Amino acid sequence: MNASKRPMIIAANWKMYKTAADVGLYMSSFYDALPEQRAGVRLVFFPAAVMIPDVVQAVAKRAQVGGQNCHWETEGAYTGEIGAGMLAAAGAELVLVGHSERRQLCGETDAQCAKKIVAALNAGLDPMLCVGETLEEREAGRQHAIVLGQLSRAIDGLSRDEYARLALAYEPIWAIGTGRTAAPVDAQQMHATIRDAVASIASPSIAAAMPILYGGSVKPNNAVDLVGQPDIDGALVGGASLFPLNFAAIATAAARTAS
Ligand code: PGA
Repeated sequence: MNASKRPMIIAANWKMYKTAADVGLYMSSFYDALPEQRAGVRLVFFPAAVMIPDVVQAVAKRAQVGGQNCHWETEGAYTGEIGAGMLAAAGAELVLVGHSERRQLCGETDAQCAKKIVAALNAGLDPMLCVGETLEEREAGRQHAIVLGQLSRAIDGLSRDEYARLALAYEPIWAIGTGRTAAPVDAQQMHATIRDAVASIASPSIAAAMPILYGGSVKPNNAVDLVGQPDIDGALVGGASLFPLNFAAIATAAARTAS
């Protein structure tokens, strides 16, 4: 039972899947399968940017919508990039920053994440920063140092109001898309460590209020054990969120622990 006052956030990361043509059917299946939406659970969809307006319309205020990435500049000659203000104008309220696929495949650095967080905040978007270690780093016992380094380099120096708009997602890279999930007790330990670090970087009250989601092969059958941990405030779901019934099952399970 999550006894904290923090909201439970259940978020779908659709990555580079789906088109606008899939959105209507997905949402009608999803909401048909969701018995009731509990006040304690916030739902968020992170579709590819071109689908943001379609998802905003289809969820009709029952969920929030976010972008998967933004550039740190407001605008400019950056072919193929997207500005945080553009996402906001399309209807996004949040944006993911530093997802491990972007760090690994696009070479995104902590310094860039720091600038993206500022750009997002300035554009009125709430950033969700992703952090996580590789299997090699975990096996070498360096997971805490790696994650805390990513965190401190990306979120240092924000104002109190800005910290209040930030969420974190701990996503061990070895658990993403692999079917391997962190044991709930290990995930809890990392989340508590992250929360302690936020207390030192920002303040204890900011840390106590900050949502820290877990991501990495969250499925209907493991969601309760994960989000039931005291410092795990929700889930960032990739693969399972592509299927409306699976994502509804995860949201329903989370609602039980949040209530
Ligand atoms: P997964 O992805 O649920 O498919 O492991 C999670 C994520 O990458 O956000």
